[in-house]
Amino acid sequence: MAYKVPFVEPAKLYRMLKDELDAAYFECMSKGDLIDRGQLKSFEENLAKFVGTKYAVGLNSGYDALHMSLRAAGIGPGDEVIVPAHTFVATCSAVVNVGATPVLVDVGKDFNIDCDKVEELIEFKIKHSTFNIKAIIPVHLSGWMADMVRIMEIAEKYNLVVIEDACQSLGSSMINCNAELKEDKPFNNPDPTIQNLTFNIQNSSYQKKMAGAWGLTGCWSFYPFKILGGYGDGGAITTNDPDVALFATRMRYNGEDRETGEYHGHGFTCLLDNLQAAFLDVKLRYLPSWIIRRKSIAERYRAALSDIPDLLLPHYDDPRRDHVYQNYTVRSKQGNEFSEYLKKNGVEVLTQFRKPYYKHEALKLEDRGFPETEALSREVCSLPMNVEIDDEQIEYVIKVVRKFYDK
Ligand SMILES: Cc1ncc(COP(=O)(O)O)c(C=O)c1O
Repeated sequence: MAYKVPFVEPAKLYRMLKDELDAAYFECMSKGDLIDRGQLKSFEENLAKFVGTKYAVGLNSGYDALHMSLRAAGIGPGDEVIVPAHTFVATCSAVVNVGATPVLVDVGKDFNIDCDKVEELIEFKIKHSTFNIKAIIPVHLSGWMADMVRIMEIAEKYNLVVIEDACQSLGSSMINCNAELKEDKPFNNPDPTIQNLTFNIQNSSYQKKMAGAWGLTGCWSFYPFKILGGYGDGGAITTNDPDVALFATRMRYNGEDRETGEYHGHGFTCLLDNLQAAFLDVKLRYLPSWIIRRKSIAERYRAALSDIPDLLLPHYDDPRRDHVYQNYTVRSKQGNEFSEYLKKNGVEVLTQFRKPYYKHEALKLEDRGFPETEALSREVCSLPMNVEIDDEQIEYVIKVVRKFYDK
């Protein structure tokens, strides 16, 4: 079915950037720059600068970024790793595939891991002498960061490695403080290229820190429909740890040090393609302005839909955190009836995930009961949110949503 408002329109975005993308393609192809060339290095440098870390290492996917991070941290059999019950399955699969055991924790109203429940679980395990937790993977879902101030405190208290699954949140940030900020001075700097900027709030100085710059690593996916998407699979880690960067740089190329030819371990083939890196480097330059556009679309949705009592919108009351709206995921009490109505009326929506990953039998995961995940799984519906969408299409989405609730 051809939708009046598709969820994303990659061909339209290509037309918007055609000259630059074609030039990037032409450069790679005409020079034969295919594997591990200057375009990859340039993208890695620009990504690290954007996130505010010392290093970025280009990999084949977000999954590889998680996998490589766990290996770099020495996580393996016998270790437990905390993961949210509501996330894309890859967060959990990476843990299983290094031989460790995922321990699931429910999420809160903002779709991110519930820090109170994390502490409860850890204390329970300590009390019953079953504590083998070595790491935690907070997921920054849909463009909104998990509460990293609190997670870093927990990690320090219980000596956990933090691996950020930031695959959905490039450009989001949080002020590194625990203080309550005054409503009249919200943190609202739209330009995420400004690194480590110090804000003066209530006459004190606080530092803004980007997603992916808090943990041992930040894990990124450049799957085509991400906020920064390539034209095929792609991923990266960001880190401040030189050993982790070196480990990933070798392991992505079958363990080889490309200068000496020495193998430093049994590795993998999971290098970010040079051509993808060239495309991503072009797109990264646009990201700050795209984030501004996404925020303005979110504000338009908010202004037009916030009076509907049965519809929960993704706007949260924490001025320390900055939402970049990778997804605009609403919760409708009418679940499938709502999402099917939108689709039938020409608006393509995403309902990730109606069935939580831990309920898939083949994955053999322990379902300890996660009420918030179960409730939101029945209700989630992501409205079109991308930079290709035009104002007329946004108004159409709003009209169809309102019509559903007016009927
Ligand atoms: C939260 C999250 N984690 C991990 C991944 C895995 O990324 P990829 O598809 O690039 O392997 C994704 C992307 O789909 C994701 O959204």
